[in-house]
Amino acid sequence: NGPPSQPRRPPKNSKQLRRLGVLYWKLDADKYENDPELEKIRRERNYSWMDIITITRDKLPNYEEKIKMFYEEHLHLDDEIRYILDGSGYFDVRDAEDKWIRIAMEKGDMITLPAGIYHRFTVDEKVGAPARLQVWTPDAAPAVVSATRAA
Ligand SMILES: [Fe+2]
Repeated sequence: NGPPSQPRRPPKNSKQLRRLGVLYWKLDADKYENDPELEKIRRERNYSWMDIITITRDKLPNYEEKIKMFYEEHLHLDDEIRYILDGSGYFDVRDAEDKWIRIAMEKGDMITLPAGIYHRFTVDEKVGAPARLQVWTPDAAPAVVSATRAA
């Protein structure tokens, strides 16, 4: 287990992330509403459903609770797709040795965590910084199948 790694920026071609099945794109978040590059990714990967969530104290109902929930280790039956439209935050994913890799995400970063990978999300130390996340899943109701991992 242990603490997460030092936060690292996801390079476009990270062998380590690829081995884990994590995909990463850098896009222009200011034109997310009309971005051919994003459209192409969505088409090719069949990312149809979409929602936008704003993670700030005043915009997100039950902020403290939600933040705790995001940071609980869990996995899904479908890919988890996150596109940061504003602000920043961390995704932690388990590597092959079960150590946490901390991925620093900022505006314009889009990441896909494969189905079945253990992960969690947290806002970074700039607490209160608006993490406006755009969320796509292949499914309208992403299923959390496990909130905690067996020790
Ligand atoms: Fe998740």
